[in-house]
Amino acid sequence: MKVLVVGSGGREHAIAWKISRSSHLEKLYCAPGNAGTSQLANNIPIPADDIDTLLDFVRSKGIDLTVVGPEAPLVNGIVDRFEENRFAVAGPSQAAAILEGSKAFAKDFMKRHSIPTAAYQTFDQMDLAGEALESNQFQFPVVLKADGLAAGKGVFVCANLEESQAALDAIMGERRFGDSGDRLVIEEFLEGEEASFMVFSDGLNILPMVPSQDHKAIYEGDQGPNTGGMGAYSIDSILSDELRQQILDEVIHPTIRGMSQEGRLFRGILYAGLMMTREGPKVLEFNVRLGDPETQVVLPRLESDLLTVLNQMAQGDLKDVKLEWSTEAAVCVVIAAGGYPGSYEKGKEISGLEMAGEEKNTVTFHAGTELKKEKVVTSGGRVLGVTSLAPTLRAAIIRAYEAVNKIHFDEMYCRRDIASKGMDRLERN
Ligand code: AMP
Ligand code: GLY
Repeated sequence: MKVLVVGSGGREHAIAWKISRSSHLEKLYCAPGNAGTSQLANNIPIPADDIDTLLDFVRSKGIDLTVVGPEAPLVNGIVDRFEENRFAVAGPSQAAAILEGSKAFAKDFMKRHSIPTAAYQTFDQMDLAGEALESNQFQFPVVLKADGLAAGKGVFVCANLEESQAALDAIMGERRFGDSGDRLVIEEFLEGEEASFMVFSDGLNILPMVPSQDHKAIYEGDQGPNTGGMGAYSIDSILSDELRQQILDEVIHPTIRGMSQEGRLFRGILYAGLMMTREGPKVLEFNVRLGDPETQVVLPRLESDLLTVLNQMAQGDLKDVKLEWSTEAAVCVVIAAGGYPGSYEKGKEISGLEMAGEEKNTVTFHAGTELKKEKVVTSGGRVLGVTSLAPTLRAAIIRAYEAVNKIHFDEMYCRRDIASKGMDRLERN
C-alpha cells in the first residue's frame, strides 16, 4: 500500500515508524514530517492543514490510505473532503471530530448520554463569566477552558479568584487562543490521578489500546503551566482490568453509541483523558486522534500490524481484527526547547542522536526538528521524545534517561520525573 501520514510531531514519527514495519507497505510519505520521518518516509512539504494541496498530492500519487495525526485538519473536515473524492482516510468526519473541536459540545454530549464528567457551565460573554466567578457559585480550585482547539494550552487550573480572572482575561479578553475564546467552559476541579485511554473504532466495534499516562505540566511534580505533554509511560497496571471494563462500559461504548445516534458516526481513534476520582473514572476531555506523547509509548507496545488496523478502521470493518500487545513497560521523555510552552528559540543544532540510538530497545522520535545542511536542528517547542521499552517500569525509566543524557542542544529542557508516579503506584500496591 501507498500511505501518507499527515503531521509533523512525535506522534507522526511514531506512526510512520510503526507503519514502516508493515509488510503491506509499498511506499510511505509524510506531510510535512520532520527530520526523523525523513529517515523512514518521503517528506512532502505540504502543511498538515492545507487540505486542498494534500488532496491533490494523494490524487497524483494514488495513495491508498491517509493517516491524519493532528486534530486541526480533522476538525476542519479533511476526512469528508477525501472521502467525497473516494480516498481512504483513517480518522473521524468533521461532524464526529467536534467531540474534540468544541469542549462545550463534548460537555453537553456527556450530559445527554450520562457519561461521567465534572460539573460545568458554559459562557459566551466575558462579563457574565466574570460575574459568575465573583459570585461564589464555584468552589476553588476551578478549571477554565477555552472552547475550541488550543494545542493543549487552553486549560487553566485556578487556585483562587485572581487566578481565574487572569485565565478569563487570557482566554476571552486577550483572546490568546483566537476564536477558541468565543466560548468558555468553567468546570469543577476533579481530584485524582489521570490516565489516557485510547481505542480504535469503526463506529460500532471497539478495539482498546493499552493505557498510558501523560505529564502535561512543564515542571517536575506537575507544577507550572500545561504543555502539549512532557512525557508519558505505559504499563498495564495504570488501569486494572475492572477499571478498564468500567471505562469501556461507562465512557467508551456510550460515546461511540451516542455519536452514532446523533448522526455523527465516530470512525477513528477516540481518546478519553480521564481522572480516576474517588467516585470512579470521569472524563476530562475527548480527543479524536492519537495522543501525543502517549502514542510514543503505546505504539511501541503494539505487536500487531498498525497499517492493517488503520486500513480496516478506514474501511469501517474492525469486526475481525485482534490486537496483540507487549507486556513490557514503555517510557517516553520529551526534550523541549528552553522557554517552552512560552517563547523559545529555534535552529539549535542537536548532537548525540546516534549515541542515543545505540541504547537497547530505545527509539528517539522527532517532533520539532528539521534538517538544515544535513544537520538536525530544533524547529519547535517539543523537540524530541525518547522512548525506551524494558521488562519493568524502573528499567524503562533508567534506559530512557540514559539515552536522554547522550543528547544535547543549547538550552534543552526535560522533566526528570517522568513515570515516577507510576513507580509510586507500583510501590503502594
Ligand atoms: P484537558 O485539555 O481538558 O484534558 O485539560 C488539560 C489538563 O488540565 C488535564 O490533563 C488535567 O491535568 C487538567 N484538568 C482539566 N480539567 C480538569 C478538571 N476538571 N479537574 C482537574 N484537572 C483538570
Ligand atoms: N497528550 C494529550 C494530547 O494529545 O492531547
